[in-house]
Amino acid sequence: MIIECDKFKSHQVLIEDFFKSDQIAIIEFGRMRNTSEAHKFGDGWSTYTYARSEKVKVLYSVDNNPETIQVCKEAIPVKDLNKIKFLSDYTEYSRRNELDLIFIDGPNESKINLDFLDYIMPLAKDDAIISVDDYSIGNKHKEIEPILKDLGYKFDIVGDMIVFSK
Ligand SMILES: C[S@@+](CC[C@H](N)C(=O)[O-])C[C@H]1O[C@@H](n2cnc3c(N)ncnc32)[C@H](O)[C@@H]1O
Repeated sequence: MIIECDKFKSHQVLIEDFFKSDQIAIIEFGRMRNTSEAHKFGDGWSTYTYARSEKVKVLYSVDNNPETIQVCKEAIPVKDLNKIKFLSDYTEYSRRNELDLIFIDGPNESKINLDFLDYIMPLAKDDAIISVDDYSIGNKHKEIEPILKDLGYKFDIVGDMIVFSK
């Protein structure tokens, strides 16, 4: 399935179309980094949309740039900020069988994103959905895609994300 939409809308579509639960736990690799309109549609503002969604109960947001925390505090209402756990390194996350969605949007470098998935995937729920941004322009998915396909995952395209599910 291919769902055409802009990057900002794609996160809302993912939440609405791929999840029945209203208690979703998410980890994102790569956080909202700028409040400008250009970044809203260029990056997607994943942190903003996931934190504001009523279907999301917790968002673990991983980014090694501490300035992005201030960006989120400026853009996201306090009641929604409370559900974000800000992490500077993904190894700070260690909970088992909690995550429903693993969203990958780190640096434009294949190996770092794969290393993140290697660490997080064994901790996530068995049926967790894995989405990777910048499918058309980046190389974030390059090493991840063949591995997940070998494991039997099917995939869909939502905006510029490739979305893997069992
Ligand atoms: C494309 S931006 C994320 C955009 C965000 N997901 C959105 O939708 O607005 C990529 C982010 O990855 C972060 N980053 C780069 N290398 C990283 C690393 N090794 N560990 C954690 N975060 C990293 C950068 O600081 C940057 O904020």
